[in-house]
Amino acid sequence: MATERTFSIIKPDATRRNLTGKVNAVLEAAGLRIVAQKRIQMTQAQAEAFYGVHKERPFFRDLVTFMISGPVVVQVLEGENAVARNREVMGATDPKKADAGTIRAQFAENIEANSVHGSDSAENAATEIAYFFSGIELVG
Ligand code: CMP
Repeated sequence: MATERTFSIIKPDATRRNLTGKVNAVLEAAGLRIVAQKRIQMTQAQAEAFYGVHKERPFFRDLVTFMISGPVVVQVLEGENAVARNREVMGATDPKKADAGTIRAQFAENIEANSVHGSDSAENAATEIAYFFSGIELVG
């Protein structure tokens, strides 16, 4: 399995509760290396564009409002099979369905305030990384 990169967001519900370090500890224990990371406040336009694929979904407005309700930490994670590994360690979107020990099972408040986002494919990871980071910010 080749080394791969994925994109991750620690969401406002987690930064608000000062959980960045705890989330990062779970990621690192899962074998993922944080090769870029920054704390930002997304604008409405940035959040709408980032979640553009969901714009017809009933939860889109609330999701954008939530994602701009406080700072987020955007990250690039690297490791063997990083996209799948990160999705495993995040757990299911709905924390009620997430396996014990996953980030969402441990920390998420509900299906919307679910503490983390992770890319669902290598192709989307590349797009999402390029949306938030320039090449010079990525150090292996
Ligand atoms: P994320 O992985 O960031 O991708 C889309 C987000 O929409 C998801 O995590 C949740 O935070 C949010 N969301 C809110 N309601 C739902 C829902 N019913 N189904 C899927 N995602 C939802």
